[in-house]
Amino acid sequence: MVLGPWWRKNWLRVVVHAAAWVPLVWLAAQYAQGAFLVDPVREMTTFTGKTALILLVLSLACTPISTVTGLKMVVRVRRALGLYALLYASVHFAIFIGLDYGFDLGLLGEAIFEQRFVIVGFAAGVILLLLGITSTRGWQRRLRRNWKRLHRLVYVAAVLAVAHFLWLTKDPQEPLRYAALVAGLLLLRLPPVRRAASRLRRRLASRLERKERREPEAVTAPR
Ligand code: HEM
Repeated sequence: MVLGPWWRKNWLRVVVHAAAWVPLVWLAAQYAQGAFLVDPVREMTTFTGKTALILLVLSLACTPISTVTGLKMVVRVRRALGLYALLYASVHFAIFIGLDYGFDLGLLGEAIFEQRFVIVGFAAGVILLLLGITSTRGWQRRLRRNWKRLHRLVYVAAVLAVAHFLWLTKDPQEPLRYAALVAGLLLLRLPPVRRAASRLRRRLASRLERKERREPEAVTAPR
């Protein structure tokens, strides 16, 4: 088939790009139909905030998943997931300043300094923006080793986003689940844990290879 090799290499990218637009299209359709009845601004802020957080956590999960499974294609969607997290965080922020505060900078300033959860969310948003701008190959070349160091800030952004969620909600159960996920992913980045995961993957792969080599023999071997 013509699509065969290309599809095998790129299917995850296609799925990620297609799926990442679904929440935005859904939100626009709901808004256009007037489906948010009770508190539209709040519902839309909540929806975009949660989508941004989920995408951010998924982008953090790419490296550990690739380390454990050996699938390189998972790392190739990390940047796209991070950029989509930035997109949803920007829409989230735009709803907050545009629809909630009507671009009233005075009121906005008060809100930012009076509500701690807003400052923390804002800081997470600024980090995501900085990482989004510097995510290109050009910036990677310019910053060299510092690029990796800078992009470790993605973990700070995730911690701040979870703190933002934790601070604004009355029921901490859901944000605590995200906190546990981010903590687990941070743990998996530690060099000894990473090395252990790579060793485990290599061991599993060689066991599988040995088994595959043995199986055809078993079929042809005389009884
Ligand atoms: C850029 C500055 C930001 C501002 C001003 C902001 C503001 C807000 C506001 C006003 C709410 C809704 C509070 C309510 O329930 O009434 C909210 C909720 C939320 N935001 Fe943000 N936010 C920002 C950045 C972020 C970022 C970067 C993320 C994630 C990456 C994020 C994730 C969330 C989440 C998960 C919720 C809670 C959703 C829920 O209640 O289920 N926010 N934010």
